[in-house]
Amino acid sequence: MTNLAKILTVDEMKTAARRAVPKMFFEYADSGSYTEGTYRANESDFSKISLRQKVAVNLEGRNLKTTMLGKPITMPVAIAPAATGGMQIADGEIKAAKAAEKFGIPFTLSTMAVCSIEDIAENTSAPFWFQLYVMRDRGFIERLIDRAKAARCSALVLTMDLQILGQRHKDIHNGLSTPPKFTPYSIFQMMQHPIWCARMLGTRRHTFRNIVGHVGGDHDLASLSAWTASQFDPTLNWADIAWVKKRFGGPVIVKGVLDPDDAQAAIDNGADAIIVSNHGGRQLDGAPSTIRVLPEIIERVGHKTEVYLDSGIRSGQDVLKALAYGAKGTFIGRPMLYGLGAGGEAGVTRVLDIIAKELDTTMALCGERDIANVGLHNIYSNDIAPRNAPSSPLPAGERSTRSVG
Ligand code: FNR
Ligand code: LAC
Repeated sequence: MTNLAKILTVDEMKTAARRAVPKMFFEYADSGSYTEGTYRANESDFSKISLRQKVAVNLEGRNLKTTMLGKPITMPVAIAPAATGGMQIADGEIKAAKAAEKFGIPFTLSTMAVCSIEDIAENTSAPFWFQLYVMRDRGFIERLIDRAKAARCSALVLTMDLQILGQRHKDIHNGLSTPPKFTPYSIFQMMQHPIWCARMLGTRRHTFRNIVGHVGGDHDLASLSAWTASQFDPTLNWADIAWVKKRFGGPVIVKGVLDPDDAQAAIDNGADAIIVSNHGGRQLDGAPSTIRVLPEIIERVGHKTEVYLDSGIRSGQDVLKALAYGAKGTFIGRPMLYGLGAGGEAGVTRVLDIIAKELDTTMALCGERDIANVGLHNIYSNDIAPRNAPSSPLPAGERSTRSVG
């Protein structure tokens, strides 16, 4: 069993999760697409940014409380939607949602979660956010939105960067499926983790419960890649934000934006907030880190909407850097999954405690008492994204009109 009190960093939590979770599920979390270059850049670009130390400032009465979408939260960190949280540990999404609720931060449930919308609603009382993947079967999507409404979800997170799946080689090598298919290799992987197995035997939640029993036909749901290829709607476009929003009747956050024109398009089409995200480096390998593109997106739309960031946040220092560049909030994906794998609800709570403490200390050493006052003055902002560099080779107006050749 993991001694959580001895874990001091998200990286140590990752090591503990690696020990506790069967290889196919640990590596499903710990992987990026193709060369994993973007996955690595997400983390390494944060480390290139230096913080500006300030001393002799009154540090009493510090405050990390803020809001996201008008909702009061205890720190600017939300739980990102992640498929198969319930395979890192039995009933994983319920455990993560409880940790988030007790901590006072938003929890986002994935369409591809193991625990269903109804499972979360039954086991928590704070409204949560639901992440929507749009599939070809629009009738099913409408029912899914209605279920999120019925469960009192207070926002929808519409993910737009995964209509086709970037390949993660490890998943293929490991024979990933949910629930695991009983092959000699998967049995071998599971036998090394008897506690994980015992907990799994103690729950009935083993499949994608938002989907199984709610769609017709004979689909191979166990294979995420086969399901995505056959069911996700490749025609998804900006105009779809409107019908999703109309059906839901509440705020819609568009997730997966890396480009200022896309950020603008999302807002023009009704997005209430955007998440600058490269899906944790799991989709377009070769795309820049999110912290690198954040400044140009803030420059374009930061005055019109709340801009959040995910991908690569591993510490309170990273959160502060994202805020310094103008993000209103951040999301964590893998840190939450590692917490689940290593220690369930208590593991996620430990991750949140670690990040909150790092954020508080870092803010103080930067000479700030209130998270609302963090800004470009707290960092050496030219370290990764020179402020004066043009954000695109051509001015916006010229791009569409200039003829080629
Ligand atoms: C994800 N992510 C994701 N996003 C989404 O909108 N729906 C989903 O079902 C999933 N599933 C998923 C599974 C796993 C294992 C990971 C690691 C990620 C992406 C997620 O919401 C978020 O964008 C990234 O995880 C952020 O990067 P970090 O914090 O993991 O570096
Ligand atoms: C993933 C999906 C399902 O990143 O969002 O694996």
